[in-house]
Amino acid sequence: MIVGAQWGDEGKGKIVDLLAQESDVVCRYQGGPNAGHTIIAGGETFKIRQVPSGVISGKTSMIGAGCVVDPEVLLAELDELGSRGIDTSSVVVSGNAHLIMPWHVAIDQASERRLGKLKIGTTRRGIGPAYADKASRIGIRVQDVLDPKILRQKIEVALAEKNIWLERVYEVAPFELEEIAARYESYAQRLRAYVGDTSLLVDRALRTGKEVLFEGAQATLLDLDHGTYPFVTSSSTVAANAATGMGIGPTRIDRVIGVAKAYVTRVGEGPFPTEIQGPDQERVREVGGEFGTVTGRERRCGWLDLVALRYAVRLNGLTSLALTKLDVLSAFPELPVCVRYRLRDGTETEDFPAHQSDFHTAKPVYETLAGWREPLDGELPAAARAYADFVERTLDVEVSLVGTGAERERVVALR
Ligand code: IMP
Repeated sequence: MIVGAQWGDEGKGKIVDLLAQESDVVCRYQGGPNAGHTIIAGGETFKIRQVPSGVISGKTSMIGAGCVVDPEVLLAELDELGSRGIDTSSVVVSGNAHLIMPWHVAIDQASERRLGKLKIGTTRRGIGPAYADKASRIGIRVQDVLDPKILRQKIEVALAEKNIWLERVYEVAPFELEEIAARYESYAQRLRAYVGDTSLLVDRALRTGKEVLFEGAQATLLDLDHGTYPFVTSSSTVAANAATGMGIGPTRIDRVIGVAKAYVTRVGEGPFPTEIQGPDQERVREVGGEFGTVTGRERRCGWLDLVALRYAVRLNGLTSLALTKLDVLSAFPELPVCVRYRLRDGTETEDFPAHQSDFHTAKPVYETLAGWREPLDGELPAAARAYADFVERTLDVEVSLVGTGAERERVVALR
């Protein structure tokens, strides 16, 4: 199981892609097209949002019940991958996953506009509104595409209510029933071939000794329950939810690899104690290419935060860490690493504050490590190795992989 250990964009796609080489099945269990995965393999760059990254390596790729699926995005992605010679016939989508409908996207956008300065900074892909409808038990599920009559009826019922919200509350244009019904019936015809019982398929794969890889989307600090609420996504992103989201028991997960950048980035609003003040922030962004895969937005950049990472170790039960983009830090002579937070009352803590006001006002306490000022190609220079060792010692979790560049090959296995 692979999980993002920070605020997302840690380079999970690359690690998944690497480990997918030795897996038989790759599964996504939560989130939707808010995830943006960039994979560089064989000199080609793939940017995918909805399909599990394993598809690039030709693995059985499953989208579990805990996901939300935008059929327009999914089908466009399947077409694009197909046109680039990638076989997508082994993609399976759970019938229990929920569909993102056009009104979810419209409400996400309108609600962010309405919140103004208080906005969450969502990806505006309809994720929150789709999960909200799921929890309210008025969602439309992937399996509803199997029956044109049911699909149309559900669209009709939902739209009658959503249009009132769109027009009267958000003051935006309503949707036209016939247009939506026809468009979704045409998506449905194509989607049917991909619908399957992903819980059963994963169970069978595990029973027959296959290797199954779970690919987390978004990341720990964006978890709906344990993240920096309300600046979070609308699903549970932590490792335990891989079991719930796919429909297997928690005892089936053997290992949990957390993926963390050697620094930190955050997209969207919300507190961020180690956000860099001054020109170094810009420098990290430029060198690291820190612009959103999905939205193109500038990512906020900060120094490595071991308080937050310790929290991720706890929440996910991490058995090891992959530290990505270490090469970006080659640009700096000295590297501050946050080892504690100083709280409002002057006390210092190594543990992530349980209350939001403590977190919002927490100030980072840094230890400064030596930089290496040389490109990372081949064996790690001593200072880079010391940086990884410092993380390992402080968190008491082994750093098993270090990423030193964008391509699949640019990974150093420390273990
Ligand atoms: P939503 O998931 O679109 O509702 O956005 C909620 C929050 O999660 C915002 O702060 C987004 O920037 C963040 N977010 C969602 N998906 C990702 C991702 O894949 N990488 C980084 N941040 C994300």
